[in-house]
Amino acid sequence: MTKKVRKAVFPVGGLGTRFLPATKAMPKEMLPVVDKPLIQYAVEEARAAGIEQFIFVTGRGKGALEDHFDHSYELEDTLRAKNKAEFLDGIHSWLPTMGEVVYTRQMQPNGLGHAVQCARHIVGDEPFAVLLADDLILSKTAVLKQMVDAHAEVGGNVIAVMEVPHEHTKRYGVLTPGKQSGKTIEVKGLVEKPDPSVAPSNYAVIGRYILDASVFAELDHVGKGAGGEIQLTDGLARMIGKVPFHGFSFEGTRFDCGDKIGFLHANMAFALDRADIRKEFADVLRQVAGTL
Ligand code: UTP
Repeated sequence: MTKKVRKAVFPVGGLGTRFLPATKAMPKEMLPVVDKPLIQYAVEEARAAGIEQFIFVTGRGKGALEDHFDHSYELEDTLRAKNKAEFLDGIHSWLPTMGEVVYTRQMQPNGLGHAVQCARHIVGDEPFAVLLADDLILSKTAVLKQMVDAHAEVGGNVIAVMEVPHEHTKRYGVLTPGKQSGKTIEVKGLVEKPDPSVAPSNYAVIGRYILDASVFAELDHVGKGAGGEIQLTDGLARMIGKVPFHGFSFEGTRFDCGDKIGFLHANMAFALDRADIRKEFADVLRQVAGTL
């Protein structure tokens, strides 16, 4: 029987250069889509998947993240005093409870593989999830929940994949697919950011992973890869043939919120998905479209 996935790692130590100057003093994971920071969507997704411990690997701007996931007594008192109690639920109903959140620091932004490695001693020897909050996914069932269910069947590594236009393969980790069964695809090979001329398929890895703890030992042997960074993909590639390894073709629409266009698209899609603002916002979009 596979062990339950209880812990999730949120690497939030990237530089976010594509979003400067917004990310000068805060991590890009604090950027809001409609009215909620990206990181809160990711934490809520993890909670919906049954995750019990939330491990943040932070870098700069740690203060804003820690404050977001803590009580804000002054704000709460002020809202009460001003009879704005309806907003209180919106700021603390989703707060983690005592001991659920752990922070550690990635002291150098040496890449995603390095960020995951920083959580090694907090995760220990059990399967765990990794969520990249800048990959935001609109779906009926939380994507990590879909993956946890698949993991209970197949064990090992389960990584989210989606088909992308062939010319975009150089933006992603790309897999060599093996046997496909329903939504799971056997992983026969993995390569980070391949040029379209050599990409083994159009299956791109998206920022949701369930990983076997042996990834930590593999990452010990990984040197600098694409972009001069320690790449998680290179650690994962070393696990092929050693643990069951599957891509998971999730249900949902993914937005790359680390990129300006993807972020703007996400804001539109999530606003149109919200019953409270959908109609008014659709009118605005029609007006704007009329001016194009
Ligand atoms: P990106 O490749 O988007 O890099 O990281 P970035 O630095 O955040 O952004 P740009 O490219 O400079 O605009 C993918 C994910 O990995 C995390 C990021 O926070 C993001 O969630 N990451 C990346 C780290 O935690 N540490 C790193 O050293 C690099």
